[in-house]
Amino acid sequence: LAQETKRITAQFEYTDEDVNTGVQEFLRQMNEGLQKDGTSMSQIPTYVTGVPNGTEKGLYLAVDLGGTNFRVCSIHLNGDTTFNLTYSKVAIPKELMTAKTAQELFAFLAKQIELFLKTHHEEHFEAHTQRRQTISTPDGFADEHLFRLGFTFSFPVQQFGINKGTLIRWTKGFDIPDAIGKDVCALLQDEIEKLHLPVKVAALVNDTVGTLMARSYTSPGNTSTLLGAIFGTGTNGAYVEKVTNILKPVEGQYDKSTGNMVINTEWGSFDNQLNVLPNTSYDIELDKMSVNPGIQMFEKRVSGMFLGEIVRLVIVDMLKNPNISLFRDENSSFNDWQSTTTIGGDSTIMRQWGLDSSIMSIAAADNTPEFSTLRQQLESQLHIYAASSEDAQAFKNVAYAVGRRAARLSAVAIGAIVLQSGLLSDGTDEPIDIGVDGSLVEHYPYFRDMIHEALSAIKGIGSEGTKRIRIGIAKDGSGVGAALIALVAAGMEKHNT
Ligand code: BG6
Ligand code: GLC
Repeated sequence: LAQETKRITAQFEYTDEDVNTGVQEFLRQMNEGLQKDGTSMSQIPTYVTGVPNGTEKGLYLAVDLGGTNFRVCSIHLNGDTTFNLTYSKVAIPKELMTAKTAQELFAFLAKQIELFLKTHHEEHFEAHTQRRQTISTPDGFADEHLFRLGFTFSFPVQQFGINKGTLIRWTKGFDIPDAIGKDVCALLQDEIEKLHLPVKVAALVNDTVGTLMARSYTSPGNTSTLLGAIFGTGTNGAYVEKVTNILKPVEGQYDKSTGNMVINTEWGSFDNQLNVLPNTSYDIELDKMSVNPGIQMFEKRVSGMFLGEIVRLVIVDMLKNPNISLFRDENSSFNDWQSTTTIGGDSTIMRQWGLDSSIMSIAAADNTPEFSTLRQQLESQLHIYAASSEDAQAFKNVAYAVGRRAARLSAVAIGAIVLQSGLLSDGTDEPIDIGVDGSLVEHYPYFRDMIHEALSAIKGIGSEGTKRIRIGIAKDGSGVGAALIALVAAGMEKHNT
């Protein structure tokens, strides 16, 4: 079994040389995306031209759609790099992810905002519904609406301004064709109006941009952050780019004084054409069975929604192979492969998406000789009974190989952006700060260590450069980040009136 597992996991090796080839192609596709629309990496200008420094103040609302949960929060920015956050979250009902109309989804979001306001901000709500007249916003800007809302919408959106943008495509299993091409801020504002809520959608924010802003607000030593990245259900990054490098037209108004603009890379679609990405038979099968074949090819090898499925496909392949003795029931008198395993008839292992990526974290964390925690989880989550230590070891090795490849691919994206920034040759030894969020980087043990190890193999970074790259979790990133961008948007409105 150990030999066979080694043979199979070898397909997931992603060498130092592969990492370097990946970085060169990533840089090429990044720059291609800065030149024109319609490229695999969208490189979307976000109209956010500066990152905060921690002194910002005010009370804002933020909602967040696109990860595991839908969250509504209010954020009080205290102006001293700290904030207070009140939030509620609900799992997004599965049927809404593939609803017939966008209106159904956005009506649900507005309803959650109403519930949140009634529970946590009743005074503001009452004041508004009674008076419905011009009220001063918390940042002192006169408007009939009391709350400015930052809308974190974590899908590819073509932005036309700080609170305008049309959906390019759905990702992460969402599929509501009716919403494509529509302005998602207007869709949300319409539903908010129907409920007469005192809320104005002031800023449209990708979760990566929110993470970048939040990390910059809170990062140690007031260093500004270069990159905000999500490694969760999906994966993506947003970074600070020089406006002079953005060769495609950026229409509409933005503050030109900083010379920078945050770019949402949508790196989940890096190398959809598979010039350099690894492509095992398992990757091919996963893509074929997905709702969006040929799209988000980088994401399908890196993020939490897909890693468990890759592991599952490998395990099923091993189970079907009569020469591999994995999860075998020695006492069985049957001879078809399904009846000779210790897998319960109701196990989800045979079903698409039947293996949750969270078990990979358990496998990585269980370093005991007997693998007792992992074996327990195999039983409770997957109904695989009486797994031997050898079985558990094989499962752990498969999960490790898939997870390690994901981390090394993540290093390709991070490394390319560090090189693109030119910061390594700025003559200082200041940290290059990167904020990350998402279930994978938060819960998968050693993910960041594996990223660092691969970064040090990149030509132009090396071990010295890697020491400067500081990767820190930006907890609750999106909510705080969205509030910060709503604040920037309020400033822009004042500026333009
Ligand atoms: C959350 C952020 O912490 O992480 C979301 O608030 C983000 O905006 C999410 O989408 C990503 O993680 P996951 O694992 O929920 O996809
Ligand atoms: C998907 C989305 C992207 C988002 C990422 C992380 O890749 O397309 O917009 O940032 O998931 O949530």
